[in-house]
Amino acid sequence: MPMPVPILPPVTIAPTMQVTDSQLSRYSELVYDRTGIRISAQKKTLLSNRVRRRLRETGIEDFGAYLQHLKQLRPKDPEWDEFLQEITTHETYLFRDESQWEWFCSYLKQRAAATLQGKEPKKLRVWSAACSTGDEACTIACCIASHLPSHRQWDIKILGTDIGIGAIEQAKEFVFGKRAMRLVPENCMRYFQEAKDAQIWKARPILSDMISFRQHNLMNRISDPQFDVVFLKNVLIYFDATSKRQVIDNVQARVHPAGMLVAGAAEGVADMVRNYTRIQPWLFQRPHP
Ligand SMILES: C[S@@+](CC[C@H](N)C(=O)[O-])C[C@H]1O[C@@H](n2cnc3c(N)ncnc32)[C@H](O)[C@@H]1O
Repeated sequence: MPMPVPILPPVTIAPTMQVTDSQLSRYSELVYDRTGIRISAQKKTLLSNRVRRRLRETGIEDFGAYLQHLKQLRPKDPEWDEFLQEITTHETYLFRDESQWEWFCSYLKQRAAATLQGKEPKKLRVWSAACSTGDEACTIACCIASHLPSHRQWDIKILGTDIGIGAIEQAKEFVFGKRAMRLVPENCMRYFQEAKDAQIWKARPILSDMISFRQHNLMNRISDPQFDVVFLKNVLIYFDATSKRQVIDNVQARVHPAGMLVAGAAEGVADMVRNYTRIQPWLFQRPHP
């Protein structure tokens, strides 16, 4: 039998109510421990506004009680995810950072040439780490569909992961709005089906069949086999040096020898990527075996 939905008593929360300095630092500690993200003292108003929304939704009366509630939740509890959705940014769109996609398309051509010479198998593993709603993973698939000759004969898997369960659920729909689609090149529009007059596009199986999504916290090491290319973009800007280093170590361990790590231009990780060749400020290659 389904559990009855609890009816929450109405809670009145003054729109001006703010977290105290001590609550701010306790929220900040909890978020840092669980995600690696630093909430700075300047974010007091932002945090207060975002948590206030959760108080209204949950019927919990004040910031202190909500913090206690969060602390005792399992990391996969839906409320923890709702809270994370409030405090993280999911900004993303297809073909974000054009030059990186130009590089990726030329990399694919090189890989195709190497297989023709019989030097490499037709196998490709790509990871979109911190994929948000899946736009980056779909961009990877678009580049493969358009630039890897006879890609259907390849063994290709693209994995998209994010800490946000809500983001991953949305990614699994493979549906994108007008804003997310605005930079998709004309020749890639055929890989999407437009819903009539709705200004939304759904990725066709030629893209979606290559991709799987699941939740993963970058502060932990992923157990999958190593990847040829890892995209780690626009996520570590919210991390401090210690947690950045931990993520970079975790990710580096999952890059195949001769594999590539693509970081966001503003990620600030260049000095942390150890023992790789730096090809661009945002592009690193693990040495050949
Ligand atoms: C701004 S989006 C970046 C999306 C995409 N990589 C891009 O560049 O367009 C940042 C994403 O990082 C995710 N994130 C934050 N902390 C994370 C963590 N510890 N592990 C995994 N993902 C995390 C957020 O949930 C959010 O979806």
